[in-house]
Amino acid sequence: METKEAAAQEKEAPRKTRGVPEGIQRTRDIIEKAMEGGGQERVAAQKAKGKFTARERIHYLLDDGSFQEFDLLVTTRCDDFGLSDKHIPGDGVITGIGRINGREVCIFAQDFTVLGGSLGLAHAQKICKIMDLAYDNRVPVIGLLDSGGARIQEGVDSLDGYAEIFYRNVKCSGVIPQISVILGPCAGGAVYSPALTDYVFMVEGISHMFVTGPDVVKAATGEDVSFDTLGGSAVHSAKSGVCHFVAKSEPDCFRQLRELLSYLPQSRWEKAPTMANPDPIRRGTPVLETFVKVDPRKPYRVHHVIFQIADEHKFFEVQTNFAKNIVVGFLRMGGEVVGVIANNPAHMAGALDIDASDKAARFIRFLNAFNIPILTLVDVPGYWPGVQQEHAGIIRHGAKILYAYSEATVPKVTVVTRKAYGGAYIAMSSKHMRGDMNFALPSAEIAVMGPKGATEILYSREIAKATPEEQTALKDKLAKEYADKFASPYQTARSGSVDEVIEPTQMRYKIIRAFKFLREKRKPGENPGTGNIPL
Ligand code: HXC
Repeated sequence: METKEAAAQEKEAPRKTRGVPEGIQRTRDIIEKAMEGGGQERVAAQKAKGKFTARERIHYLLDDGSFQEFDLLVTTRCDDFGLSDKHIPGDGVITGIGRINGREVCIFAQDFTVLGGSLGLAHAQKICKIMDLAYDNRVPVIGLLDSGGARIQEGVDSLDGYAEIFYRNVKCSGVIPQISVILGPCAGGAVYSPALTDYVFMVEGISHMFVTGPDVVKAATGEDVSFDTLGGSAVHSAKSGVCHFVAKSEPDCFRQLRELLSYLPQSRWEKAPTMANPDPIRRGTPVLETFVKVDPRKPYRVHHVIFQIADEHKFFEVQTNFAKNIVVGFLRMGGEVVGVIANNPAHMAGALDIDASDKAARFIRFLNAFNIPILTLVDVPGYWPGVQQEHAGIIRHGAKILYAYSEATVPKVTVVTRKAYGGAYIAMSSKHMRGDMNFALPSAEIAVMGPKGATEILYSREIAKATPEEQTALKDKLAKEYADKFASPYQTARSGSVDEVIEPTQMRYKIIRAFKFLREKRKPGENPGTGNIPL
């Protein structure tokens, strides 16, 4: 992490302003002119929309004085459709290297004041150069996007430019972290490249993403739709799942991005950074004892459990508003970064549906690619039933979780807190899916299905023979007998599919101890490279 001394070293020394040799003055003039972007009028228009300029964005995101720009003097390569008098140095994108929290990053920022931030040949080549630099030097690449997509005047050259970027996005996938920040109306290729990256940020009110904008939609389908309704941050964070983080403002967005990076390694050849941990690893979590008594049908937010076990109660959630039935994100335990996947009984009883499967599977694959250990907290009644889910492909999507966990070779620790039924029990990093250490609280119910459903199938004839009055009492009795035998952790512990039944108050320590033991299970870069394919 950055020290004060290192930051001070970066402070630029004041430059001579008088008696500057002619050659140097000429360079200064060229650079100054090039830095104007689309000119004062367009910059004012950008500001009037409540947006920073591309240059300000880089300044606010990176560590003070750390930015070093490349290709400022590269210009537009096309003369068609009136572009001959619009050759603006930089071609609408600022590229370079800098530092965040003292660690190197490569960055590009599209400048909407220059031809709407649209992507032509030179613009694309600049982005590709910076992506190659990030790949070769194993550092994250960050894109600040504010672009109308392929530059229409440049025809196929701009499409080819996007193809080159997409190709690199895939090559970098699972190798270096790739982060996209949407900071304007982004269309066409300007949304497909972010979709190939690991994380997408949006800012309320100013960020929009769509394959084609409202005007084209109106012409093609007759639908009248606003920017926000078509592709605003609310839509993409809650409905489509395209966006992972929503911010209230650009500064808030940059703060979140800096925090995200603090949990990530620079590449697949590194571990995530360890932090000094003032929180005792043996800190008890007695609050979790309420689980032992909790009614199995009572909803609760799994965040409360995560906050209890995390170092200093800190949890950085990913995709907060999408598929709320599963919660994923980063925390530290004993100073080490851990990624958590947790069923959330407060939403759809924590069942797995299509969106939850996609969300969890992609996050698991990200963690595996970047050497981050996986903690799984299980309280799941099953896969969500119904015609809608079946027809939309819950079998195909649900299988992604099975695939992701089986494939993951990073350390995996699982705790069953309450329900773990059927296929969902298997899916949530169960022992035979190669969970490394699997714990259960005394409140765990691990079974093929819930007591009520199970006994109504097993004893359907006996129940049918009883009078309606007798039926309720009989069902309750049978369900209780079943629950006593199967809906507990002990049957599973007897078979070895749970390594240990632990007391709730020990939960934090047991997890940290397990991850400490598993620390050297896999060395960074040892795994066959797995990309983080969009799911
Ligand atoms: C050239 C463009 C442009 C583009 C915007 N501009 N998009 N120039 N190519 N793709 C220019 C505008 O002409 C305008 O120039 C300036 O940028 C600002 O744009 P406005 O329309 O005034 O701004 P706004 O009202 O905010 O609308 C922004 C917008 C809209 C929603 C992005 O411009 C728009 O719909 N653009 C087209 C988006 C699109 O369909 N792109 C398709 C790309 S196809 P002046 O000089 O008038 O100020 C693609 C293929 C890749 O990307 C596919 C990969 C799978």
